[in-house]
Amino acid sequence: MDVLKAIASRCSTRGYTAEKLTKEELDTLLTAGLQAPTATNRQELHFTVLDGQDPILFDIQEAMGARTRPAMNFWYDAPTVIVISGETDFRWTAVDAGIAVENIALAAEALGLGNVILGCLKAAMDGENRAKFAGALRFPDGYSFQIAIAVGRKATEKEPHGFDREKQVTIL
Ligand SMILES: Cc1cc2nc3c(=O)[nH]c(=O)nc-3n(C[C@H](O)[C@H](O)[C@H](O)COP(=O)(O)O)c2cc1C
Repeated sequence: MDVLKAIASRCSTRGYTAEKLTKEELDTLLTAGLQAPTATNRQELHFTVLDGQDPILFDIQEAMGARTRPAMNFWYDAPTVIVISGETDFRWTAVDAGIAVENIALAAEALGLGNVILGCLKAAMDGENRAKFAGALRFPDGYSFQIAIAVGRKATEKEPHGFDREKQVTIL
């Protein structure tokens, strides 16, 4: 798929079938994340892959308490969740993680897979259970949660978001 087409058609999917990703699909997504640029080529990100049934996800959900929609878990029953952690003390980690997660989102779109970027678990990941979750998710030492993405086959459809070019763009 053309990259501009993938950018234009990508949108957040909030409902998935139970069908797992193939090994090839997962490899493609992870490669897209690893191919993302990082400041000074530091490559300070780590990618943890979880099955949608992994008890750790349910633990995180519980730690999130009332912050999520009651009828849905935060990964919308997606069969795969990728959690991106990064070096806490590097200045560009958050930016690099954002670029990597979008690379994964666009790769998923190109493969015809639904996906949704997930930030809502941040408070739980940075809260009192921080060390427990960092250990369970095998974050390297000195790394912390940055962002996550759920991926799977779409069970719901949605249009990409609209935007206000006049408000958001200045061409000098
Ligand atoms: C940094 C970031 C964090 C996000 N966190 C969540 C989240 O926790 N849960 C969720 O359902 N969507 C989340 N989203 C998806 C946004 O809500 C979505 O991208 C936005 O509403 C635009 O819709 P679209 O992706 O369908 O174009 C997040 C998106 C970004 C970029």
